[in-house]
Amino acid sequence: MASISFSALFLSIILQMALLWSIGSSLRTGFTSIDCGSDFDYTDGDGIQWVPDNNLMSEGTSVVLPDTSIDLVLSTMRLFNGSQSKYCYSLSNSAVTAGAFFLVRAAIPPGKNIPYTPKNPDGYFRFEMIIDGDRWQEVRIASGDDQLYAYDAYVRAKGSKIDVCFARSTPDGDAPFVSGLTLRPLPDTLTSTVLMNEKNCFLVCLGHINYGVPLSWIRFPNDTLDRYWISDEVQDAYLISTQKAINMTADSLDQLPEEIFQTSWISLGEYFTLNLSTLGNDNVHHVVFHFSEIDSSVDTGFRVFSIFANGVLLTTEEPIDVFARVGANAAYSFGKTVTLDAGSSIVFNFTSLHESTLDPFLAAAELFALREIGALSPPLIITTVEAIKTTLGLSRYTGDPCLPVGYGYDWLHCSTNNTGITAISLSNYEANGTIPAELNNLTTLTEVYMNGNNLKGEIPNLSALELLEILDLSNNSLNGSIPSYLATLKNIKVLNLQNNNLSGTIPTSLLQRRQASSLSFEFSGNPHLCDPMSTQCAPSTETRQSQKSRTTIIVGISVAGILLLGVAVGFVTYFSHKKKKSSLHNGAIHKGLSEGKFAESKSSGISTDSMPFHKTLE
Ligand SMILES: *[C@@H]1O[C@H](CO)[C@@H](O)[C@H](O)[C@H]1NC(C)=O
Ligand SMILES: *[C@@H]1O[C@H](CO)[C@@H](O)[C@H](O)[C@H]1NC(C)=O
Ligand SMILES: *[C@@H]1O[C@H](CO)[C@@H](O)[C@H](O)[C@H]1NC(C)=O
Ligand SMILES: *[C@@H]1O[C@H](CO)[C@@H](O)[C@H](O)[C@H]1NC(C)=O
Ligand SMILES: *[C@@H]1O[C@H](CO)[C@@H](O)[C@H](O)[C@H]1NC(C)=O
Ligand SMILES: *[C@@H]1O[C@H](CO)[C@@H](O)[C@H](O)[C@H]1NC(C)=O
Ligand SMILES: *[C@@H]1O[C@H](CO)[C@@H](O)[C@H](O)[C@H]1NC(C)=O
Ligand SMILES: *[C@@H]1O[C@H](CO)[C@@H](O)[C@H](O)[C@H]1NC(C)=O
Ligand SMILES: *[C@@H]1O[C@H](CO)[C@@H](O)[C@H](O)[C@H]1NC(C)=O
Ligand SMILES: *[C@@H]1O[C@H](CO)[C@@H](O)[C@H](O)[C@H]1NC(C)=O
Ligand SMILES: *[C@@H]1O[C@H](CO)[C@@H](O)[C@H](O)[C@H]1NC(C)=O
Ligand SMILES: *[C@@H]1O[C@H](CO)[C@@H](O)[C@H](O)[C@H]1NC(C)=O
Repeated sequence: MASISFSALFLSIILQMALLWSIGSSLRTGFTSIDCGSDFDYTDGDGIQWVPDNNLMSEGTSVVLPDTSIDLVLSTMRLFNGSQSKYCYSLSNSAVTAGAFFLVRAAIPPGKNIPYTPKNPDGYFRFEMIIDGDRWQEVRIASGDDQLYAYDAYVRAKGSKIDVCFARSTPDGDAPFVSGLTLRPLPDTLTSTVLMNEKNCFLVCLGHINYGVPLSWIRFPNDTLDRYWISDEVQDAYLISTQKAINMTADSLDQLPEEIFQTSWISLGEYFTLNLSTLGNDNVHHVVFHFSEIDSSVDTGFRVFSIFANGVLLTTEEPIDVFARVGANAAYSFGKTVTLDAGSSIVFNFTSLHESTLDPFLAAAELFALREIGALSPPLIITTVEAIKTTLGLSRYTGDPCLPVGYGYDWLHCSTNNTGITAISLSNYEANGTIPAELNNLTTLTEVYMNGNNLKGEIPNLSALELLEILDLSNNSLNGSIPSYLATLKNIKVLNLQNNNLSGTIPTSLLQRRQASSLSFEFSGNPHLCDPMSTQCAPSTETRQSQKSRTTIIVGISVAGILLLGVAVGFVTYFSHKKKKSSLHNGAIHKGLSEGKFAESKSSGISTDSMPFHKTLE
């Protein structure tokens, strides 16, 4: 017995030393601090290194803010006044790996410093923030406000990067802006990060509140995790404090700065209430209260109290008796998930038990809103869209291509259950390069518009796109021949290849489908293209090969006998003559008809402009 507990204790001491050492030496390497809109590196008064965002973000405009007295970070911002559906910073450092936890913070400058007016007459700027594929928070700040807004979230990385995005709330809403973005690693042992794994959620921080320390806030380096502990007071209560060391090992989980436990507010009566504003419409919250019994006269049973949230008892297992749990001058935390009707505030009521002689108290509180972590788009979508972006020079589009719903790339239409991309609408996007071969992997595609760009090279193999109905590649500089597989796409209704530099013979199978009115097929404006229905085309490689094999057959037959050869030659001549005649005949009859057909489809607009796509989007 004795030896077991000794070795267990020994092990825990070693572990703690190793933990402290690794935190001390590596914490800052997991820090990423971005000064948005700035163009130089610097180290601030707390030893935090800031980098400008010009290597991380090519979009938006850097804006110098009028009031630079507050903070270097807040003296500039990046304004995203373009029309993209979102603008994402891809945050990464050596600590960002799948499953690792981070505190993500966006610093939004005070409303009074923004040299623009909000679009809404109520005087509030509004825009959306997104983390990976999930909506995070609507920023809402009054234009005259002099408050700095630091929005915090606890996030679990899905891979080697975390996308933090800014978006207009509506297409004609306010342009988003941001002054600073930081990433801080969090241990997986915090009450809150343990909960994140249990519930598969991310946490929107609604407050880290410190009751008692007479400063406006405490953060790094006193808080090694760089949480902002904002000071607040409890109504109808008095402050007590101690200089004595606090035993943090009793509750080292949450790693609060020691000074937070050295002061507390104590109620003047048998109960006190805290009214914590919850923002937003979440109805599941997580609250963690932190206590330390620093009154040296207290013993077990002296200070025992219950906690209610909007009248619902939280301390269901047993009431809080900090001294009984951890003794004097030791940290103690109580965490609970609170499910309430969505509302604007939660009123916590700390009430003494009847037998308790001393009144309830509090050192600090944390409040979070729980949000389900959504998936990212499937890997096939992500890798294929990456390939399209790289090949066509569209790397300005960042973040998840489809998610969150409503914030996908404006040139993609994703299926509602996000299992595939159904349309690509890149008409007149000033896209360069070749049509990526990877497009053939997006088998859910029904519409592809890439007209009016500067696309070069050949039309790739798209034969796997069996659902494809519309393919518009007009007004580019594509070369090579028209692939014959296009006629085998069962659902293709519109094929527009006009105004390119395609060459060779138009596959007759396509022309036949056009004649049969099952395909609106446009190919004019390709000077080197030959239409076998109206002209005698120079034999293509394909025809030459079949002629060669016919010769081989003829030669083989000649070995069999001269009489048979005569019959064979006669048959071949007759057959090819008849075929030519009948195809000419068909061509003559159907030419006018097919032109009429095309004019009709052109006037309906489907073949050339992208309206049907936008209709689909609505
Ligand atoms: C964005 O704002 C900057 C600075 O005000 C301006 O120069 C630029 O033209 C704007 N861009 C757009 C797309 O409105
Ligand atoms: C932070 O810690 C330092 C050193 O321990 C201490 O001197 C300072 O007062 C602390 N700051 C706050 C805000 O408590
Ligand atoms: C701190 O608390 C732990 C756990 O309650 C206890 O084992 C340890 O003896 C305490 N240390 C001090 C210095 O009181
Ligand atoms: C809590 O605060 C909110 C917002 O300040 C207020 O609307 C509400 O009435 C308060 N509730 C109580 C019970 O004081
Ligand atoms: C807090 O709880 C006490 C005891 O249950 C009750 O008397 C008091 O009215 C409550 N206060 C508020 C603001 O809910
Ligand atoms: C796209 O083409 C334009 C001119 O046509 C050229 O200036 C630009 O460098 C090209 N971009 C890429 C990514 O190839
Ligand atoms: C997704 O939706 C498509 C139709 O939009 C449907 O065919 C497919 O079965 C759905 N997939 C899943 C996994 O729900
Ligand atoms: C997608 O297409 C490319 C090129 O055609 C191919 O190399 C790749 O293996 C395909 N599959 C996936 C899953 O990307
Ligand atoms: C074109 O793609 C399809 C489907 O991926 C494949 O079966 C076919 O072999 C490809 N054709 C060529 C010529 O590469
Ligand atoms: C198509 O154009 C590219 C250059 O853009 C060239 O390399 C290629 O040989 C051309 N192909 C044909 C069939 O003319
Ligand atoms: C179009 O293709 C032909 C070969 O088919 C080539 O000679 C010509 O230079 C190309 N024209 C352009 C503008 O690329
Ligand atoms: C192609 O360009 C011509 C002339 O610039 C224009 O009239 C036509 O509408 C364009 N077609 C498409 C499909 O973009």
